[in-house]
Amino acid sequence: MSKSPASYRPETRLVHSGTLRSQYGETSEALFLTQGYVYNSAEECEARFKGEDPGFIYSRYSNPTIAMFERRMIELEGAEAARSAATGMAAVTTAILAPLKAGDHVVASRALFGSCLYVIQDLLPRYGIETTLVDGANLDEWQRAVRPNTKTFFLESPTNPTLDVLDIPSIAEIAHRGGARLVVDNVFATPIWQSPLALGADVVVYSATKHIDGQGRCLGGIILSSEAFIAEHIHNFMRQTGPSISPFNAWVLLKGLETLGVRVRAQTDTAARIADVLANHPKIARLVYPGREDHPQAALVKKQMRGGSTLVGFEVKGGKAAAFRVLNELKLAKISNNLGDAKSLVTHPATTTHQRLKPEDRAALGISEGFIRFSTGLEHADDLIEDLTAALEKA
Ligand SMILES: Cc1ncc(COP(=O)(O)O)c(C=O)c1O
Repeated sequence: MSKSPASYRPETRLVHSGTLRSQYGETSEALFLTQGYVYNSAEECEARFKGEDPGFIYSRYSNPTIAMFERRMIELEGAEAARSAATGMAAVTTAILAPLKAGDHVVASRALFGSCLYVIQDLLPRYGIETTLVDGANLDEWQRAVRPNTKTFFLESPTNPTLDVLDIPSIAEIAHRGGARLVVDNVFATPIWQSPLALGADVVVYSATKHIDGQGRCLGGIILSSEAFIAEHIHNFMRQTGPSISPFNAWVLLKGLETLGVRVRAQTDTAARIADVLANHPKIARLVYPGREDHPQAALVKKQMRGGSTLVGFEVKGGKAAAFRVLNELKLAKISNNLGDAKSLVTHPATTTHQRLKPEDRAALGISEGFIRFSTGLEHADDLIEDLTAALEKA
């Protein structure tokens, strides 16, 4: 290509960015399933280790297939640098922990995926890092939580599973005024609908396991940020501690990126149709869908997101028993704790992803016993709507 891939529109970058063609001129990106590399001379090997020769050294550090995945994500996200990881949680843990030391302080939104909450609430304090959880929608709480030793703010938006949307530009401003960085878990929004770095965040993390693979095959994660942040805090930590992604998984995710835009758009269109049907359904007590005018932060969605969501949240009247009846009656949508798949997946957060929380903490987050998270797949919208309405009849 004559233009730099980064100057093309996102759909084009998803297909072309980062491709490294071997001497065979293959069309589809090659899978370099190798642990290590050989050198033409001892001098070349020495230069590689000194960083004077840009080639690869060992696949715990980097690998051509992994480098292609990282470059494609960098150009999609508008970041300067990235490091991929074995799982989304390896990426989240590294992005939060690697830059910190005992005595530092972290502020995070209370509405987090269960494992992210474990890292903030249980893991960090064991290493002398103080943490404060806030109501992410309340800007005053973020402001009041700032201390002289605050180094990191962490949030996800939309939140899991209640799909609240947090004000990324305003929270970034509060973080920066307090001398802290903002790390955003952008899993629910996907890179298609939200670009946190352009909104003021300093670091973006993904579980690539979700929409980026999109077909339920491989685990993976990635941290994207400035060249300085990755070089100073992430590169050496990952190189020495080893939460690296396998080249095979990076290859699956790289190929997943080619169809990310069409999949997320189709899944979002279907999710919006499902939300419209559920909004008027007599068995539904509450519906949350970013992209509908009745979403609690509808204005913010318009301001910081380019589209709605592939996920729909709803509360069935009749609590846990009614929610379980719906799950058990569904024929197409499968019961799972995962999301972002080509197959529609349905989750009961109170007894799975968020069962670790105390009932009063779940209630404060809006995760009631009747709440269901619906991850919309690529099935025909009419089939999914018929499946859901039939199951609700039995609730
Ligand atoms: C918002 C969010 N962040 C992080 C993760 C962790 O990703 P992984 O399962 O790839 O470790 C998940 C899901 O598992 C998630 O939903």
